[in-house]
Amino acid sequence: MGISFPQGFLWGAASSAHQIEGNNVASDLWGLESRLPERSGDACDSYHRWPEDLDLVRDLGLTAYRFGVEWARVEPVEGQVSRAHLAHYRRMVEGCLERGITPIVTLHHFTSPMWFQREGGWRSGAAAGRFRAYVRAVLPILDGVPWVCTINEPNMLAMMAEAIRDGHREPGVAGAMAAPDQAMADALVAAHRAAREELGAAGLRAGWTIANQNFQAEDGAEAERDAWAWPREDQFLEAAKGDDFVGVQAYTRVRIGRQGALPVPDGARRTLTGWEFYPDALGDAVRHTAGKLPGVPILVTENGIATADDAERVEYTSAALAGLHAALAEGADVRGYLHWSLLDNYEWGSWAPTFGLVSVDRETFARDAKPSARWLGEVARSNGLRAAG
Ligand code: BGC
Repeated sequence: MGISFPQGFLWGAASSAHQIEGNNVASDLWGLESRLPERSGDACDSYHRWPEDLDLVRDLGLTAYRFGVEWARVEPVEGQVSRAHLAHYRRMVEGCLERGITPIVTLHHFTSPMWFQREGGWRSGAAAGRFRAYVRAVLPILDGVPWVCTINEPNMLAMMAEAIRDGHREPGVAGAMAAPDQAMADALVAAHRAAREELGAAGLRAGWTIANQNFQAEDGAEAERDAWAWPREDQFLEAAKGDDFVGVQAYTRVRIGRQGALPVPDGARRTLTGWEFYPDALGDAVRHTAGKLPGVPILVTENGIATADDAERVEYTSAALAGLHAALAEGADVRGYLHWSLLDNYEWGSWAPTFGLVSVDRETFARDAKPSARWLGEVARSNGLRAAG
């Protein structure tokens, strides 16, 4: 006995442009990286090695791949669209389709063009219009893409912007951070809506992907938990009402007491990012999302663990998938699961937290599938998990 998933369930891996492509020199982050412990540099050189990445996805037995289109490449200067970079991303879409892989494309994953930031970033009154123009430029290459993610983790993006503005980057998970500036949150919602209009008019299915933080009330702090969750997560879910789908991204939990976020419990098992090892995060995040957005299909667009012990990745992911299956059995409409991440990639300032199913030699860029990658491929091929033992 084991568990099996609905027919046609998508099984795949996820990535983001800046974290794997390399030399994203026209982006806002490229300049800021000198202030971070490590730079992205050539990253995994996926800008050139994407056919190898797609071959890996196919050979492992996965059926879907989530990757990003980088705004800073498509529009390195305001109003100047790079046909060459657009053609590159079109080749990637076609590369997926030729290999029988379902492409899932993210249009914005944390980084923006440098010019956009200089002109006021998301807080500029022109932001939504600028994002709309970029989305319009990308439309022609999205033909055949069944799932388009507009903005990745707007809640995390808004909280990070706040933290950077305050002059510090708080350690720990997003959910424990200061609430985002509401003007920034509103601007992201407006940009998402503008993108949705463009994509919808072109007949494309679109949604955004939210960092689900599993806020859990401790000591009867339900009201405080709800008040905490609204600016950091729930307002972004609310904005997904009526979307074609919503992306759930879950890694760990955040406990909320009467005074706010509580630290990771003493003695709790932790991952390389310092987060609590908490695989139930996925099922809980899906339940929370399904409860807030009845009728909106769910795609798990990220879930995974930073660990140097690959067996721990399998342990974490099996438990997460068991939780996901339970949420499905309770009625959640989940269409697929994308593991974060395909490759050991640039983790926003550091190369140390390894989330990958596949390791990458930082000098030769050689890829090596870990046992967990083959394990997930087997899960995909059998569309489920066998019982342990
Ligand atoms: C982001 C990824 C990141 C991952 C692990 C998510 O917040 O979308 O870019 O690498 O979590 O931290």
